[in-house]
Order: sequence, then C-alpha cells, then structure tokens
Amino acid sequence: MASNKKLLVLPGDGIGPEVMHEAGRVVGWLGRKRAIGFDISEELVGGASIDVHGVPIRDEVIARALAADAVLFGAVGGPKWAETAFANRPEVAILRLRRELGLFANLRPAIVLDPLVDASTLKPDIVRGLDIMIVRETVGGVYFGEPRGIETLPDGSQRGVNTEVYTTFEIERVARVAFELARKRGGRLCSVEKSNVMESGLLWRQVVSALGKAEYPDVTLSHMLADNCAMQLVRNPRQFDVIVTGNLFGDLLSDLASMLTGSLGMLPSATLGTLGEDGRRPALYEPIHGSAPDIAGTGQANPLAQIASLAMLLRYSFGLDEEADLIDRACVNVLASGLRTPDIMGTGKAKVGTSTMGDAVLRELDKLGG
Ligand code: IPM
Ligand code: MG
Repeated sequence: MASNKKLLVLPGDGIGPEVMHEAGRVVGWLGRKRAIGFDISEELVGGASIDVHGVPIRDEVIARALAADAVLFGAVGGPKWAETAFANRPEVAILRLRRELGLFANLRPAIVLDPLVDASTLKPDIVRGLDIMIVRETVGGVYFGEPRGIETLPDGSQRGVNTEVYTTFEIERVARVAFELARKRGGRLCSVEKSNVMESGLLWRQVVSALGKAEYPDVTLSHMLADNCAMQLVRNPRQFDVIVTGNLFGDLLSDLASMLTGSLGMLPSATLGTLGEDGRRPALYEPIHGSAPDIAGTGQANPLAQIASLAMLLRYSFGLDEEADLIDRACVNVLASGLRTPDIMGTGKAKVGTSTMGDAVLRELDKLGG
C-alpha cells in the first residue's frame, strides 16, 4: 500500500525532541516494513520557536497544521520561558493549535497494562485491567471564555478574571464523540461537571442528558460532580468506562487518571476536530506528559507515550488499526520483557534509557510484523 499522508511533526521543548526521535524511528519502520509512507515536515513550537522566531508558534506553522492530515506533537514549556509574558508563553502553541484547528475533543485513555500493574501508586487490586477513556472538551470553557484578563482597580489592587462558558452546540458536539466511543466500548458514559454551583455545569448536565435520551438510549448515562469524580477515580476507578467533561475539569481529571497507571510517561492522547465534507478530520496527537525539563537531555525520558500517540494517529486519522495494534503490542511486549525507563522502574527490572527503549520497540516490531 502506498499512501502519502501529510504529517506535521512538532517536537517542541525539553524531552519532546528526544521522545519524538524514537517515534520517528517507528515511522521509518512503517515505511520500510509496511510500505506506509508519509510526507513529513517538522517545525519548531513552544520555547524552541520563541528562541528562534520570537513567538511560540508562527502563523505559517498553523497553516501547515491546517493543511496536514495529522499533527504529531511532543511537549512544550520549561523554566527558561517562565518569565515570558502570558500571551507569548510556550503553552500558547498548543492552545492556538487546538483553537485554530477546532480540535474540540481530547481523548485521553488511562489503561493499566498488565506488566505495569505494580508501577501504580494504588494497590494492584484496584487498578488491574483498568481501561478508562476521558473525553475532554478542549476549545471552550474557562480556557477561552471572555471576559478574561488582569485589571487594575481604582484602589490600585488588581483583579484576575476568567470565565467558564459553554453553549448547547459545544456541549453536544463533544458529548457525541463520547457517546460514540462508549457505544464501541463498554456502553457506559459518565458526564462530569459542577452543576451544584455553576450554571455552565447545569446546562452541561441538561444538554448531555437530553442528547442521551434522544440519540443514545443504548448507552448507560450517569452524571457526577467533578469533585466526587476525582475521589471516585482513586477509590474505585474501574467503575468508569468513558468520562466526558469540560476543559478545566478534564485537564485535572486526566492527569489524575493517568497516574492510576503508574506513569504519565505511558499515556498518549488524541485531539480531534470536526469531520469535514472532504472526509478529513483535523487531528493532533500528543503524549499527556509535559516537557519534563528536569530530565531533558539526560537520555532517560520514556518514549512510549509518544510512540503510543503515533499508534493513535494511525488508528484515528488513517484507519490503520493493524499497524496501531502492532505498535501497542510491541510496547506491551517490551515492558513484559522487563525493560523500564526510570519513571516506571520496579524491583528486579532492567533500567534503560530513551534510545534503548526505542531499540527494543523496533526489535519487537520486527518480530511481530516485519
Ligand atoms: C494539557 C496541558 C495543557 C492544558 C497546557 C500545556 C496548556 O496541561 O494538555 O493537559 O492545560 O491543556
Ligand atoms: Mg494538563
């Protein structure tokens, strides 16, 4: 099969380029062994772009992202840019990409792989076999709501303002993605908000509820307040199948859920936009972990989340489920063989660095599907 899909690669800062390098080797493997070709372009984003171009992302890069079939993103940010003005911080790169590509549905799986059941800080009995999908809204809510800003009051003190806003349309479109996923998985969806204190949360609950009744009567829908959800995720995480929630709660709950699995270094994510009339759906894939400036450059970063993000890209953007499965299986096998980067190190395991982990994934891919 010869398909030349346009792939935009944005490694970013910190460990971003290091883990992206390993994902790039897997892309190379797909070309050599499975005849899956990509037209790849690579651009600077985040602090790396600030250093060279003065801005966290250039308009040309946004245009390239809009023209690409999929974007593979690393991570942005770091102490070097901590003092940068708010509107020009490295994080603006990912926020602009989400916003300008209309990437409203962020899919964040939290899966406990068998070989890693001991890496969790929770008891194995609580997390064994865990498989949750958090669907987080990513272009609305308090991240983008107006008014926002810091203003100076007449007495000279200041006031910081952000606004939580959700419309029926925004709630329905992200809820639809979640209902569809629930349908293909365990058939259960839990919608999360703070309808006890926020009007935007009350509307959220009403809209999701009405949509469920009208279009997804086969999916078992429940509602939960966000604080309770945080507690339930730690108490009994396996009660969840798919969770749908707004931007800020999704940010918090997905970090929490990811730690159930033992390491942020393990988890990929996909952020999807609207399916266009041309059959294309804008999409960006990134690991959940950040740029980890504390270990950047030491060769110790775990590349598996970036590699798993590539697997998600193959699955969701190109329907290459077979190859995505191969990559996922290769990662599990490598872990089962006892190799561990420091973030998931366990007793009796072999500690390895980024590139050795990448080597092992490629070797396993050769065995499985070369
Ligand atoms: C995430 C990150 C981002 C967010 C930051 C980098 C802006 O924490 O993707 O979860 O808050 O959305
Ligand atoms: Mg976050």
